Amino acid sequence: SASGSDSGVSRGLWSSRFAFILAATGSAVGLGNVWKFPYVTGENGGGAFVLVYLLCIAIIGVPIMMAEVFIGRSGRHNPIGSMRLVAERNLSSPAWRISAVIGMIAAFAILSFYSVIGGWAASYIGHAAMGDFTGGTADSIGNLFSGLLGSPKQLLAWHTLFMALVILVVSRGLKGGLERAVTILMPALFLLLLVAVGYATTTGHFGEAVSFLFTPNFSALTINGVLIALGHAFFTLSLGMAIMMAYGSYLGKDVAVGRTAVSIALMDTMVALLAGLAIFPVVFANGLEAGAGPGLIFQTLPLAFGNMPMGSLFGALFFILLLFAAWTSGISLLEPVVEWVEENSNMGRSGSAIVVGVLCWLLGIASILSLNVWADVTPLAMFERFEGKTIFDLLDFFTANILLPLSGLLTAIFVGWFVAKESLKADLNLSSGMFTLWLNLLRFVTPVAVVIVFVYNLLA
Ligand code: PHE
Ligand code: NA
Repeated sequence: SASGSDSGVSRGLWSSRFAFILAATGSAVGLGNVWKFPYVTGENGGGAFVLVYLLCIAIIGVPIMMAEVFIGRSGRHNPIGSMRLVAERNLSSPAWRISAVIGMIAAFAILSFYSVIGGWAASYIGHAAMGDFTGGTADSIGNLFSGLLGSPKQLLAWHTLFMALVILVVSRGLKGGLERAVTILMPALFLLLLVAVGYATTTGHFGEAVSFLFTPNFSALTINGVLIALGHAFFTLSLGMAIMMAYGSYLGKDVAVGRTAVSIALMDTMVALLAGLAIFPVVFANGLEAGAGPGLIFQTLPLAFGNMPMGSLFGALFFILLLFAAWTSGISLLEPVVEWVEENSNMGRSGSAIVVGVLCWLLGIASILSLNVWADVTPLAMFERFEGKTIFDLLDFFTANILLPLSGLLTAIFVGWFVAKESLKADLNLSSGMFTLWLNLLRFVTPVAVVIVFVYNLLA
């Protein structure tokens, strides 16, 4: 809970450490857990990949998360303002705030297309509930999906609904908006996930999924797999987007940042593993392809639900789960920029949320059109690297492969090398052994690892 003498009280604080953990976990838990983690695990040696991934979370993800939360909590402003303040206090250049600027540009750009995908989840709740998958074939379900992607009108309607849900929550501020949303949505999400796993145990293929996910096959683990694990550790914890800075700016001074970051990482990992245990038994029970990539959730799974007992009910529940996961992530993507606009304008909380949200919604239209009318518009086709990439693809590529690692790298270097050790020590309140470990990871291991992934992704 918050202490009375805390300098952040006037702008509001999370009512408890747990509320912060729920919000940060809400940000972290998203498509990365439910969709990406299970299939990259399957492709990269199952248990062996999971081990490497856990190592990456521990030595890179958690230290960067702690650095971001530290900046937000010390600065008590929007991410750019907080970075500037922390830099000035440590007699470092205020130019370090470029790290927050990059992170916020990334958050804004990601939300524009994340909202489009969130809209797919929303539309699939209805499809599942109305029995549109029932008795479906690969063709009929494929047509449903390509019908959605081919229709700018439908996509726009669902994108608008999703963005409206996000704006609604953010416009209500910390307590009445963010905190209230996550305290309802996150427990619901966990419950739905457990129901989904329970359902998966009835398929008779649960054991197969367990061994698929957990049997370490080190021969299937390649250098490429290690790099994927590293990149995913970053994305899955929502790092490099100024999100943990924004959320950290409302965190009470007496909360232990290290333990809290570890809890968030554990919850995120648990959800990813449970999602795998919910999805793969259903996939195997229907003899479907586990490594189906992007189509796994919107094509393979509906096909499975359409041919299983009570598939309409459990299909609808699954897509509600997916919508909740995307919604709490969308909220966290809007928050940093809204915090910044609110503190630098006179539009207030809801005015700022509406203006930023509507601009983001407009940018999202480019991603919608990329799927149909503008499918042949490839602005960077003159570079071989970007041939065939639509605006949607380019936004995804530049944010995930350039902006996020760059922002994370700068944050790690700034906090590791340009903030006084004593002030870090006092703020984080770790045992001296843990503090030394954390600082060394942040100073040496994190930057090297991020640069390796960065270069690799650019060349790959
Ligand atoms: N962390 C989310 C996931 O794993 C993705 C995300 C990134 C969400 C950035 C919000 C912001 O799916
Ligand atoms: Na995640």
